[in-house]
Amino acid sequence: MRYGYFDDPAREYVIERPDTPLPWFNYLGSEGYFGLISNTAGGYSFYKDARLRRITRYRYNNVPFDFGGRYIYVRDNDSQEFWSPSWQPVRTPVDDYTCRHGMGYTIIGSSRAGLRTETRYFVPPGETMEIWDVTVTNQRDTAADVSLFGSVEFALWDAQDDMTNFQRNFNTGEVEVEGSTIYHKTEYRERRDHFAYFACSADTAGFDTQREAFLGAYRGWDSPRAVAEGRATNSVAHGWSPVGVHQVDAVLAAGETRRIVFLLGYAENPRDAKFDPPGSTTINKRRVRPVIDRYLNGGAVDEAFAETGRRWDELLGLFHVDTPDHDTNRMVNIWNAYQNMVTFNLSRSASFFESGVGRGLGFRDSTQDLLGFVHMAPERARERVLDLAATQLSDGGAYHQYQPLTKRGNDAVGSNFNDDPLWLVLAVVAYVRETGDFGILDEMVVYENTPGTERPLLDHLERSLNFTLDRLGPHQLPLIGRADWNDCLNLNCFSEESGESFQTTTSQDGKVAESVMIAGLFCAAAAEMVDLAAQLDRTDLTEKYGGERAAMLARIESPAGWDGEWFIRAYDHFGNKIGSADCEEGKIFIESQGWSIIGGAGLDNGKAERALASVAEHLATDHGIVVNQPAYTSYHLELGEISTYPPGYKENASIFCHSNPWIMVAETLVGNGDRAFDYYKRICPAAREDIGEVHRAEPYIYAQTIAGKDAPTHGEAKNSWLTGTAAWNYVAITQAILGIRPAFNGLDIRPVLPKAWDGYTASRKLRGVTFDITVKRAGTGNSVALVVDGTPVDGSVAPMPEDGRDQVTIVATVS
Ligand code: GLC
Ligand code: GLC
Repeated sequence: MRYGYFDDPAREYVIERPDTPLPWFNYLGSEGYFGLISNTAGGYSFYKDARLRRITRYRYNNVPFDFGGRYIYVRDNDSQEFWSPSWQPVRTPVDDYTCRHGMGYTIIGSSRAGLRTETRYFVPPGETMEIWDVTVTNQRDTAADVSLFGSVEFALWDAQDDMTNFQRNFNTGEVEVEGSTIYHKTEYRERRDHFAYFACSADTAGFDTQREAFLGAYRGWDSPRAVAEGRATNSVAHGWSPVGVHQVDAVLAAGETRRIVFLLGYAENPRDAKFDPPGSTTINKRRVRPVIDRYLNGGAVDEAFAETGRRWDELLGLFHVDTPDHDTNRMVNIWNAYQNMVTFNLSRSASFFESGVGRGLGFRDSTQDLLGFVHMAPERARERVLDLAATQLSDGGAYHQYQPLTKRGNDAVGSNFNDDPLWLVLAVVAYVRETGDFGILDEMVVYENTPGTERPLLDHLERSLNFTLDRLGPHQLPLIGRADWNDCLNLNCFSEESGESFQTTTSQDGKVAESVMIAGLFCAAAAEMVDLAAQLDRTDLTEKYGGERAAMLARIESPAGWDGEWFIRAYDHFGNKIGSADCEEGKIFIESQGWSIIGGAGLDNGKAERALASVAEHLATDHGIVVNQPAYTSYHLELGEISTYPPGYKENASIFCHSNPWIMVAETLVGNGDRAFDYYKRICPAAREDIGEVHRAEPYIYAQTIAGKDAPTHGEAKNSWLTGTAAWNYVAITQAILGIRPAFNGLDIRPVLPKAWDGYTASRKLRGVTFDITVKRAGTGNSVALVVDGTPVDGSVAPMPEDGRDQVTIVATVS
């Protein structure tokens, strides 16, 4: 069942009914001001940090769900009936409801009683505010007497405190009202230099800033008393819960459309110019007034919206494919690329499932997210890489998370997730291949944010690899530490305390438990280092890491890593196998199959194919590939959090979508384009649109998990939007299956396509040069013959033009 449709030319997903199985979200803003917005206008906004600078309130896990938002009420003053054009929060039925989620904007519209209301929400480029651009059209043939209310509920900045510290919060709330602008200034009188504002373009008939005055005691946002009565109370908040409400009254002639613009913004003042007059506690509005004025009266709204569109044209224009598969085209050209930018901006901080008060940016998360957006924002990728590297420990280890506001490692979460540093190598090499910026390797970067410890970035990469080599266990395989990519495989934890964090508690010295997945990841990272070092003529490094990689591969392929039909997953604290036919549960895992093969194991002796056949047999389902089988059915002290989840959920045998593309990539390495693409389609959100009642999450973006076959809700997606799934699926489809990958000296074209495809075309911009690519199938194999600008070339790389041309034509024949 579908709840909407893709409008590809407009790059929108159009939702046709408000009561989707879960709220279907979009994001606003991509610089400093961000907002989440659902298809019923739920969500919230924040400046840079979803915890510390929360602008509006959202009630997580509320009933009904998705509550708190950018709510507009329309009141028909003749019938005295009122409703929400976005359906929530009033939830009276509306006609012709549509929600168009687009690139950085959302438009929600509906009609009732002959009044059509439509609101376009977006963040103007370069500003720290959002615009609600509302139009109301009277579709009756008589005049309509209408009141329109725009409303927000302010958060008192620190979202964690806002939900808990009521003995203080109920006393601190303060606002100022000036004309049609409401200023929220809680704590501005003391140490905060920032405030929020909610402004309206129309002359208002009234306002409210005290929540209970607007709603009425014991009433909710679904039936505010002021709306029911058609009269705001002009309340001024002192303590309790400040809100911003503007009432606009209008008599619309038959057919008339009225446009009303609301601005919700965030502003800062220099500390020595906070107050006007100085010495008072009144906000100095000299800087913010002209900004508000420009958008409310200066006609800047349409231009700002057009500019948002131009920016996305530019970003999405960098890479465009035209394949025989619609879902692939819309994901690669629009939604997957878009999700990559959102995950880069927000990491795992704020979504319907991530409350925004938890973690900073994950080291492994951000380095993997980079793989999906580096071609769209290379400068920001560079900055991110250097920031992350500066938190690296001098032994090569990594803080598991870093705080974007302070750019320092997070002490509370600490380090010793032994896979973390290896992802830095993959990220940096991907960055250099994309940009050709070898200079980044010479950038002097500190360790652990400590001045005086500066070393070139290349040294950080060596230490990342050495970190693994310095920590080998009884089988000469990498020690796992707190966990590897699978955060819930906590083999040294041995937690018996309920509520204790599996990620930060360790009770064993960690000298035995090993990870075959890290071994594979090490081989992949070492291969990248070897390639990079060859470009730098550093034979010392090529030899060292080439040799270490060969030795590690041999161990993975030996009985220490190979179980007979697949790769073993790990060894526990007692040296027992995890992910082996000998185990009762958890006999086979996805991660070590993917990473051993990507690292190069089993490619010339049939083990890779054998392992992938086992994946197909034991782990693949119609809804994607599960993490492990059989699922753990009870808690195992020696396994940790993985065994806390009921079978089929999260790390315990769900389809953890992030790990599926590793198998797709591995399938292309053994030349099986059919199976790689089949797996791609199983979790591809667009391809799951028709089973919306099963999938339930948004069909335009990836979710972290889809419930596995052991779960009663098999096929149901959860934790959508902020997941490494976005970057990795993008890598799998564009680089492994379509086979277009940046190389140090040009663009490498090595497709491994489904047999039924006769080819595809694409255009890819690399370092300012546009490569127009035509791939044609002439046989059923995967060998490639390249013709570049009419001339056959050896190998699979179309070189960067040396004569300054910015256009290259590639014809690749696959046979
Ligand atoms: C979450 C974490 C990520 C981890 C994954 C698997 O997505 O953000 O770091 O690798 O779960 O446990
Ligand atoms: C939980 C989640 C896992 C996540 C971890 C760290 O264990 O299951 O996916 O990576 O928390 O926050």
